Amino acid sequence: MFGSLLIASLTVLVPLGHTSLPLVINTWPFKNATAAAWSALQSGGSVLDAVEKGCARCEMEQCDGSVGYGGSPDESGETTLDAMIMNGDTIEVGAVADLRRIKNAIGVARAVMEHTDHTLLVGESGQCGPECNVFPDPSKSCGPYKPRATVKQNIRAQHANIHSHDTIGMVALDKDGHVAAGTSTNGLTHKVPGRVGDSPIVGAGAYADSSAGGAAATGDGDLMMRFLPSYLAVELMRAGADPSAACKTAISRIKRHYSEFFGAIICANTSGHYGAACNKAPGLSQFHYMVSDSEPHNAIEISCFPFSPQRSYTWSPWEASRRRTVVPYSPPLCGRL
Ligand SMILES: *[C@@H]1O[C@H](CO)[C@@H](O)[C@H](O)[C@H]1NC(C)=O
Ligand SMILES: *[C@@H]1O[C@H](CO)[C@@H](O)[C@H](O)[C@H]1NC(C)=O
Repeated sequence: MFGSLLIASLTVLVPLGHTSLPLVINTWPFKNATAAAWSALQSGGSVLDAVEKGCARCEMEQCDGSVGYGGSPDESGETTLDAMIMNGDTIEVGAVADLRRIKNAIGVARAVMEHTDHTLLVGESGQCGPECNVFPDPSKSCGPYKPRATVKQNIRAQHANIHSHDTIGMVALDKDGHVAAGTSTNGLTHKVPGRVGDSPIVGAGAYADSSAGGAAATGDGDLMMRFLPSYLAVELMRAGADPSAACKTAISRIKRHYSEFFGAIICANTSGHYGAACNKAPGLSQFHYMVSDSEPHNAIEISCFPFSPQRSYTWSPWEASRRRTVVPYSPPLCGRL
């Protein structure tokens, strides 16, 4: 009863079919990140600049303690960063995982995309400085490489408020419908060293295709990465699905196997329509995301859908014959259980 009233009132606040380009959307109410991305677009930057600047803002501000340096220590007490960025025009991706002692993970991810022929670099050997502007020339010689520019690091006071949120995921579209998407996170607290979640995995943490749209996911990455929810949502939008419906289907697909997983996804299509969906789970009944378009920096709250997998999905006879009992999933508090 209350839920349906809430949904009804939200529908009034957020008119459906609303469209406007350019557009920036990101997971969680990380408003300064949205503002940074928006101002990058407004000052003539590309959608990649917007995604990079927006996520970098969160890395600097250590959004919720779950993005950037100093948060979510692994089992051995070390913070490692994961990030990715994707160019929806060219389907180029740069991603980094298990990055240590570098604050600007999304900057390194972009450098991987723009200055190397690779897609995903991990660990300390994946580090070449935010510009990845190295010498000697990697196309001509082997390393060791040295960065040409020094890394500028901002020392800031550490925030005390560590919530259970994770990952900034962002999608940006410019007025011509170019799409970029990206993520940045410091991963799961108390993880086994070396654990990498969904954020830097293309199609899982985020996906962008300027001929279809963009999506970014947040939540229990160990589970979500198995379903490539961002890729699925973008493909559904390509096939004509409304962004909210595409987001919901991506969430339901995971729910079929893990009914209580913690996770949410944001979706935008190339005309600037957007939506989001989340799974109702312990600690997640409402999900907040940020939108900037003609009315900059609105926080939008959605109710997570509480349907059981049985109600939201009909099993085909083939699937039903193979289906194992769906066990409610509770995320581990510690890496080793
Ligand atoms: C957002 O930016 C404002 C202005 O720079 C700053 O005062 C505020 O602390 C920032 N918010 C967070 C959560 O860091
Ligand atoms: C985006 O989604 C909206 C709402 O479903 C739809 O009206 C619009 O045609 C879609 N745009 C594209 C380019 O598919």
